Amino acid sequence: MRGWTRIKAFAANVRELNLDVSVSFARNFLEIPEWVKPYLEIGFFRVDSRPVHSRLMEIRLLTEHDAEAWWQLRLLGLTTDPVSFAESADEHRKKTMQEVRTFFRACSPENFVVGSFEGRELVAMAGFYRERHDKFRHKGTIWSVYVRQESRGKGIAKALLSEIIRRVRLIEGIEQINLIVSATQPVAKRVYSSLGFKHYGTEPRSLKIGDTYIDDELMVLYL
Ligand SMILES: CC(C)(COP(=O)(O)OP(=O)(O)OC[C@H]1O[C@@H](n2cnc3c(N)ncnc32)[C@H](O)[C@@H]1OP(=O)(O)O)[C@@H](O)C(=O)NCCC(=O)NCCS
Repeated sequence: MRGWTRIKAFAANVRELNLDVSVSFARNFLEIPEWVKPYLEIGFFRVDSRPVHSRLMEIRLLTEHDAEAWWQLRLLGLTTDPVSFAESADEHRKKTMQEVRTFFRACSPENFVVGSFEGRELVAMAGFYRERHDKFRHKGTIWSVYVRQESRGKGIAKALLSEIIRRVRLIEGIEQINLIVSATQPVAKRVYSSLGFKHYGTEPRSLKIGDTYIDDELMVLYL
């Protein structure tokens, strides 16, 4: 078989598996034969360059209906990775569900949380708020970035943060996004750097957990 015949046979095989005729899918699950690649380059098939798991993950704004799931995931984060957050698990446990729902009801395009779902389960989250004072209104902050352990390394944090950056770019007058990351979290720093955040300072001994001090690194993305 050559040329078109081979391509049609290839597409038919994909169809038989009841998958959308999509080489982007095939390239993640099947070995793409060398001879198909030139056709990919000329756009014969739609090519989605994102890895398959990021195409399958659902990312959306969280609402008051997600309050319980958010509360649980945040508690998990504060428990498994306490050095990554200023709030302690004990402080978080004191928050009532009513307070959390009120928070989500008050969310807006300038103050929001995005979440990533696997099936119906919330597995990751990241928040953003714009500063309130007039002289700070050109700035916003990313907070509470967390991906549960089993879901890490699949590009979820990067996808969540990209979604935040996309939304923030729509806000009139915002010029920069700041964030704080523990000096002890190289993976988080790498994620932020890969999205263009630059290190601009360090706060020594920012956190104190028991007798241990942890430095915080300050990062900024100029939009
Ligand atoms: C930091 C964290 C959010 C990253 O989430 P994630 O979904 O696993 O990250 P991603 O899969 O999007 O990875 C993004 C980048 O980090 C890299 N990375 C991910 N896990 C890694 C690991 N264990 N070691 C080295 N690099 C890693 C990826 O390769 C990717 O880099 P690339 O785009 O150059 O390939 C997650 O590990 C986490 O929740 N940690 C604990 C809480 C925390 O530190 N939050 C940050 C608070 S400021």
